[in-house]
Amino acid sequence: MDRTELYRKVLLSISGNKQVEKLTLKYGKKLAGKFIAGDTLAEALDEIEVLNGKGIMVTLDHLGEGIKQLSEANGYKEEYIRLVQGIANRGVRSNVSLKPTQMGLAIDPEACYHNIRAVVREAKNHNNFVRIDMEDTPFTQATIDIVLRLHAEGLTNVGTVIQAYLFRTEEDVKRLIESRVNLRLVKGAYKESGAVAYQHMSEVIDNYKKIIRMHLDQGVYTAIASHDDRIIQWVKEYAAQNGIPKDAFEFQMLYGLRMNDQEKLAKEGYRIRCYMPYGTMWYPYYTRRLAEKPANLWMVVKNMFK
Ligand code: FDA
Repeated sequence: MDRTELYRKVLLSISGNKQVEKLTLKYGKKLAGKFIAGDTLAEALDEIEVLNGKGIMVTLDHLGEGIKQLSEANGYKEEYIRLVQGIANRGVRSNVSLKPTQMGLAIDPEACYHNIRAVVREAKNHNNFVRIDMEDTPFTQATIDIVLRLHAEGLTNVGTVIQAYLFRTEEDVKRLIESRVNLRLVKGAYKESGAVAYQHMSEVIDNYKKIIRMHLDQGVYTAIASHDDRIIQWVKEYAAQNGIPKDAFEFQMLYGLRMNDQEKLAKEGYRIRCYMPYGTMWYPYYTRRLAEKPANLWMVVKNMFK
């Protein structure tokens, strides 16, 4: 295991510690702000307008995951419906991303399906699209099942995310391509064991390229969500060499990261979408971002002493 892989594992482990969470909630809000567009929908919509002005599309995420009671999921569902309506009323270029556990997947999968369905239907009324983020492996199959069930009902304006670090991914991609599900392809952000996931970045990257290629070759619209220059450059070259048009795929990056590069991709004529979270439940999202890059943790430590 190299140093980066070790760092990621350690950080994901300590972020689950209650004391660390308490301390971060107390001192980290200002610092987490770099990755979060604001506390409210109104603030987020203002920020979407700014990014749209630079040619960057958005996927809006109302922060929240791992809820304890189903009534919370209902609240999130209502918020997402307001969010879809808010996007339509402002006329901004943004779809939405939600987390299945935020909609109740860990408590009652059937209720979760109904909550997500309500959001997808509202989005369909406004010609918009809903992305179901992918969480850790206890939820992989259930998330895919919800998406396929909605597609079978004719609600095709919903897609999900596929994580290159999982062994099962290639088979999932084959199945989802058959149903022409719009997928976001990522490396994977959770702590997963060697029983289900590749543990070395080189293996993850090989698998990532494989599933990107499967999409581009089949002409199924896809989103490549990565800040990794090696991947972005490889996609650009692969598309150019194989006559794949720039509108057959989109790049995605997270809000607060590489914003200049996001703008540059838009100027080069690529489709680029920024994943923009807002809301007050920022702790788990924030700690996953820190785990991805030691420099992000360093930035936090430096700011603590300013
Ligand atoms: P990687 O971590 O391999 O690093 C390569 C280079 O990219 C670094 O050297 C650095 O230059 C840059 N970089 C990467 N991360 C950075 C950071 N945090 N700060 C600054 N620079 C950074 N995962 C998941 O499991 N389920 C999901 O639903 C999603 N959804 C999602 C949406 C979007 C839009 C993105 C961009 C990512 C996700 N992810 C995700 C997260 C994904 O799985 C992965 O953990 C991160 O994107 C990190 O991998 P990268 O390929 O970006 O770079």
